[in-house]
Amino acid sequence: MRVLRTVAAVRTTVEDWRASRERVALVPTMGNLHKGHLALVERAAQLADRVIVSIFVNPLQFNDQDDYSRYPRTFKKDQQYLAEYGVAMVFAPSLEDIYPQRLESVTQVEVPGLSDILEGASRLGHFRGVTTVVAALFNIIQPQVAVFGEKDYQQLLIIRRMVADLVMPVEVESIATVRDKDGLALSSRNNYLTQEERTRAPILFGALRHAAEAIEKGRRNFPILEEEGRQRLVEAGFRPDYFYIRRAEDLAEPGEGKNNIAILAAAYLGRARLIDNVLVQLK
Ligand code: PAJ
Repeated sequence: MRVLRTVAAVRTTVEDWRASRERVALVPTMGNLHKGHLALVERAAQLADRVIVSIFVNPLQFNDQDDYSRYPRTFKKDQQYLAEYGVAMVFAPSLEDIYPQRLESVTQVEVPGLSDILEGASRLGHFRGVTTVVAALFNIIQPQVAVFGEKDYQQLLIIRRMVADLVMPVEVESIATVRDKDGLALSSRNNYLTQEERTRAPILFGALRHAAEAIEKGRRNFPILEEEGRQRLVEAGFRPDYFYIRRAEDLAEPGEGKNNIAILAAAYLGRARLIDNVLVQLK
């Protein structure tokens, strides 16, 4: 497994692979890897000959400097995991490599509309930071395929939209959210939970499942279901940020038709901000 830190080194290696007609998959991450990330790597390995995992804590997508500074950086452990998973390359660039300009003057990529609602309304500029760094990573590596998690469902939709709008020559693949046995979606931010909070954390998934089951049973009074979802979280000691029932395709408000549904929530539990979602296929 190669560990490369510069754009120039990555380019040379990937050019060699491409010259021998090998397919390259990229799994972009911010490190502090867990089994959710490793499931992305496994999916990538099914889709390509060479898997590249990028590890870069992207300052542009944090709207809070403290959150950026305390984001867990566990590079040694991450490398050990990835070596066991047959990853061909870890790309761990420096800040200057990705953003040679001062951050304020970097050219940014923005998907309007979709980036401004839900998660984007709570974290201004967050998705512009995500699309900017993912566009840069795609340009550096030029993978045939890139794999993202449904855990960050809105992020996945935004990246698909960016790729379609800018005609980027990359396929976007996704995998279902990887969860602990009790339903809690794996996340680096779970580390911020105390032991006691960790026992309550699966209630977030429980509230989403509860709304999903109601919809599966035919309930369509979405605003009431959303309010019930928020209430469940408040009663369990969460501070809900949002709990929305939306059309899965584009996160618009669901109309009358048989649209597939995404139920998305974000809530604070202690100092951790947890996000999760559940998809409902309507037959
Ligand atoms: P990060 O939070 O490290 O997540 C990297 C990838 O892992 C994302 O595609 C995310 O959706 C996926 N992932 C995280 N937890 C998961 C879980 N429990 N199950 C399935 N997939 C999971 O998302 C980012 O980094 C950044 O925004 C990034 C795309 C790297 C751009 O900086």
